[in-house]
Amino acid sequence: MTAGARTPAQDPSHLPVMWTQVLDGLCVRRDGIYLDGTFGRGGHARGVLERLGPTGRLLVMDKDPVAMASAAELVSQDARVAAFRGSFAELANWKETATGLDGVLFDLGVSSPQLDEPERGFSFRNDGRLDMRMDNESGESAAQWLARASEQDIADVLWTYGEEKLSRKIARTIVARRQDTPITRTAQLAELIASVVGRGDSKIHPATRSFQAIRIFINRELDDLEAGLAAAHERLKPGGRLAVISFHSLEDRIVKQFIARHAKAPPGNRRLPIEVSFTPTLREIGGAQRADSEELTRNPRARSAVLRVAEKLEVAKHRDVHLPPAQEHPR
Ligand SMILES: C[S@@+](CC[C@H](N)C(=O)[O-])C[C@H]1O[C@@H](n2cnc3c(N)ncnc32)[C@H](O)[C@@H]1O
Repeated sequence: MTAGARTPAQDPSHLPVMWTQVLDGLCVRRDGIYLDGTFGRGGHARGVLERLGPTGRLLVMDKDPVAMASAAELVSQDARVAAFRGSFAELANWKETATGLDGVLFDLGVSSPQLDEPERGFSFRNDGRLDMRMDNESGESAAQWLARASEQDIADVLWTYGEEKLSRKIARTIVARRQDTPITRTAQLAELIASVVGRGDSKIHPATRSFQAIRIFINRELDDLEAGLAAAHERLKPGGRLAVISFHSLEDRIVKQFIARHAKAPPGNRRLPIEVSFTPTLREIGGAQRADSEELTRNPRARSAVLRVAEKLEVAKHRDVHLPPAQEHPR
């Protein structure tokens, strides 16, 4: 490793989630080519670099301009690294991935620096501009969307991506409130939601589900995840590993179903008496993994993390199945 690239053990201010399990799951080969689609501040990426030899290669992506500035620093320090700003949904369009990949990592959701910077607008705990875009140089901010969306659309987003039971009431209140005052600050939105939901005895803040829902919608997180998994599957070489860390059930369901779809034959349909051929292209490695108690004590944000790992299988191009001729049963 070159000077400047520090391991998480040396830099306690940044603790990547399930660091050891991710690196074990990726099974890094010294001469392999790996893609980290969610660079953040490069905690996991630096772990991959430590395991790569001089001919290994690390490709990193992120939507966030600040994360990519940090990636650019790593590129300038280490010739094995290349960076591309964009969504991992587009990873197959980056020509660096064309020769195939030995491993792909997606550590989903927002990073600690994004959450901790009030002006990025992800947090209901600190007041800031209501932005919520990972790529805050393109697309529509949360404030812009809330200023124009219909009551029905707002309710649908809160319900679909946040499973917020009071979605309709919150949407109605937002639409009524914005006629007098534009909703442009995180504290304004958090207070409005708290006034509808109430504090109750729940330990979680009343705005948690709605903030999660709006963030997922603004960043098209679930669409990107579906497209990113398909692109990673296409680019992985046989024996290559896919590792994905999810932070809520909507993400984890997509990852789990994607792996199952490529690893297990679909159940037969009794009404269709035909045989459907199925060739697995992935093998699931272990089941859902969670952070251990030591990590949870040190980093409470790891409590909802679920890691899934799968391996790309070699698929024969031609598979002639020769069935033996029917034989009479001996009597
Ligand atoms: C949880 S953090 C990753 C932290 C990183 N593993 C580390 O060790 O520093 C998630 C990062 O992924 C980025 N991100 C989320 N979805 C993305 C997507 N579809 N394409 C590219 N980057 C994405 C976010 O901007 C954020 O920087």
